[in-house]
Amino acid sequence: MADELLQAACAARERAHAPYSKFKVGAAVRGESGRIYGGCNIENAAYPEGICAETAAIAAMVGAGETKIIEVLVVGVSDEPITPCGGCRQRIREFAGPDIPVHMATPDGVQLTMTLAELLPQSFGPENLS
Ligand code: THU
Repeated sequence: MADELLQAACAARERAHAPYSKFKVGAAVRGESGRIYGGCNIENAAYPEGICAETAAIAAMVGAGETKIIEVLVVGVSDEPITPCGGCRQRIREFAGPDIPVHMATPDGVQLTMTLAELLPQSFGPENLS
């Protein structure tokens, strides 16, 4: 299952716009429908305006009309697995429950899988506002 996500995330990573950090990241989220949405990091000459790959993948999913994430994968080339930044953990949380798997991968395969709750314990989510 994670293989499909890895393929989509690697394809998205090829399209990363990362001329400043030179650090290309790809992400893929699987929606409740089973469909997969990819995204890449998109940096900006005004540095803080750049967005992460996970954020781009979520935007693609929401733009396609889905609002529930059941699996996430992020891929980069580094010795240690790339973990989603704090902001992206919270963005995933908006559309996912605590038990979904978040895979961290290199192009060779998944290196580490954690649940969203492990990455973002005691999180604040939409239910807290209802
Ligand atoms: N980046 C991501 O896209 N996702 C992550 O999980 C970690 C970091 C991007 C942001 C920036 O374009 C580059 O990696 C270096 O931080």
